[in-house]
Amino acid sequence: MTGPDLAVRTLGAARIDSPLSGILDAWRTTEHYVNEHDRVLLDDTLSAAVARGLPVAELPALEPCGPRRKIFFDPSKTRAGIVTCGGLCPGLNDVVRGVVRSLVNQYGVRRVTGFRNGYQGFIASYGHDIVELTPDVVDGVTSEGGTFLGTSRGHQDPEEIVDCLERLNINVLFVVGGDGSMRGAMAVARVAAERELRLSVVGVPKTIDNDIPYIDQSFGFQTAYTEAADAIRAVKTEARSTPNGVGIVKLMGRHSGFIAAYAALANHDADIVLIPEVPFEMYDLLGYLHGRMEDRGHVVLVVAEGAGQDLLADTGTATDAVTDPSGNAKLRDIGPYLRDRIDEHLRRAGIPPTIRYIDPSYAIRSVPANAYDKAYCLRLAHHAVHAAMSGRTEMVVGRLRRRFVHIPMALAVSRRNQVDPHGDLWMSVLEATGQPMSLSTPDPPNPDPPTDPAEDHSPDHSAERTISP
Ligand code: F6P
Repeated sequence: MTGPDLAVRTLGAARIDSPLSGILDAWRTTEHYVNEHDRVLLDDTLSAAVARGLPVAELPALEPCGPRRKIFFDPSKTRAGIVTCGGLCPGLNDVVRGVVRSLVNQYGVRRVTGFRNGYQGFIASYGHDIVELTPDVVDGVTSEGGTFLGTSRGHQDPEEIVDCLERLNINVLFVVGGDGSMRGAMAVARVAAERELRLSVVGVPKTIDNDIPYIDQSFGFQTAYTEAADAIRAVKTEARSTPNGVGIVKLMGRHSGFIAAYAALANHDADIVLIPEVPFEMYDLLGYLHGRMEDRGHVVLVVAEGAGQDLLADTGTATDAVTDPSGNAKLRDIGPYLRDRIDEHLRRAGIPPTIRYIDPSYAIRSVPANAYDKAYCLRLAHHAVHAAMSGRTEMVVGRLRRRFVHIPMALAVSRRNQVDPHGDLWMSVLEATGQPMSLSTPDPPNPDPPTDPAEDHSPDHSAERTISP
C-alpha cells in the first residue's frame, strides 16, 4: 500500500554547527536537539500498522520540528525574507515577530526583510517598499490584529518573485499564508531549484477556517471561534429578550464549518448550526425552526458561509465574478437569504418574528490573537526558523497530535480538512443544539413539496396554520 509522500526536500548536507549549541549543550539533563532519524507517525493507531502489514518502525511518519545540531546556512551570511499573504487571521503579527526574533536572537542572522502586501511586494511594478525587520521593529506589533506587513490575494509570477529574491540575495523565505499562497511558495521553490539557487522556502500555514489537513488546529482558529461564540451570545440575548426572537449569526467557513461548530459548542446558545459539510433542505429547516420557536419562544441559528450554496443557485443572487483573486469560488450570501425566508415563513405562520441578523466575519478575523494562539504562533515561528536554517525547503510547519512536524507543501495543499458529519465533533454539535441528525428529508412528504412548509397554495392563507416540526 503506498501512502502520501512525506519526505521533505533539503538543499544539501548540513555541515555548520548550530549556534544554539552554546545554549542547548549546557543543559545536560534535557535533550533539545532533534535526532535526524526521529519520526512522528502519521497514523499512530495500531490498526494502521495491521492494515499495512508493517512493523511499527515502517509506518508512514513525518519529521519532527526542532533545532538540528548541524545547520545548512551560515547565519552570518544569511539574509531572510518574510511575507504574509491572503485573508487576515489572528496571529499573523505574532508569527512575523517570532520568526524575526528567532532568526536574530537565536541564530544571529543579521538581515531580515519584510515584503509588503503579500506576493505583490516582490513585483517591481507595484512599487511597494520593503522593510528591514529587527527585534525592535517587531516589538509591540502583536497587540494589533491584521498584519503590519500588509497582505493581498492573487497569483504573482514566481519567476519575478525569484528575480527579486536573487537581487536582494535572500536565501531563506518564510511565507505565512493559505493554500493558494502555499501553491505560490511551491512554485517559487521550484523556480529557485531550476536556477540552482540555494533558497529555502518554508511556510507557516494560515487559515481561519481550520481546514489545513494533517494538523491538529491552525493558528488563530481558537481566537476566531471565541469571538464567534461572543457573537452568538449577543444574538441569543437579543432573541430571548424580544417576542418571537430570532438570532442569526453568519460566520466564515467556505468549505469547512469548524468555526461555526466550535463556537456553537462553547455556550450551548445555538439551536441550529448549518455547515457546508451537512446539506439541508429549506422545508426541513423551516419546519424544525418553527417547532423550536413554538417550544421556546426564540431561536438562534448559526450558519457558516459555505452552507446551503446549492439552495441559492437559482435565486439570482449570483456574484459578478465566479472566483476571487485567490481562485476561490465566490459564494452567494446565505445569511440574508435565510433571514428573509425565516421572516416570511414565520409571518405566514402567524408568528411575526423579531430578527437580529449579524455577520461578524471580518470583525472576528481582524482581532489580535488570544494568549493561546500567541504562544502557538511563536512556537510555529521558532520551528519554521529551525527548519529553514537546517536547509529544509518546500515544506510547512504544523502540529500533529501535540508534536510539531515538517509537512511537505504538496501534502499540506493536497486536500482540505472538513467536519466529518459522522464524527464525534458533529455529534457533539447535535447534542449541544438538540437539532436532528438531518435537516434534509430523504423522501419529501408529498410528491411536489412546497419549499416552505408554511406555504399554503390555496388562495386564502391562514395565519393560524402550523406545521409539525
Ligand atoms: O479562506 C479563508 C476565509 O476566511 C474564508 O472563510 C472566507 O470566505 C474568505 O477567507 C474571505 O476572505 P476575503 O474577503 O479576504 O476574500
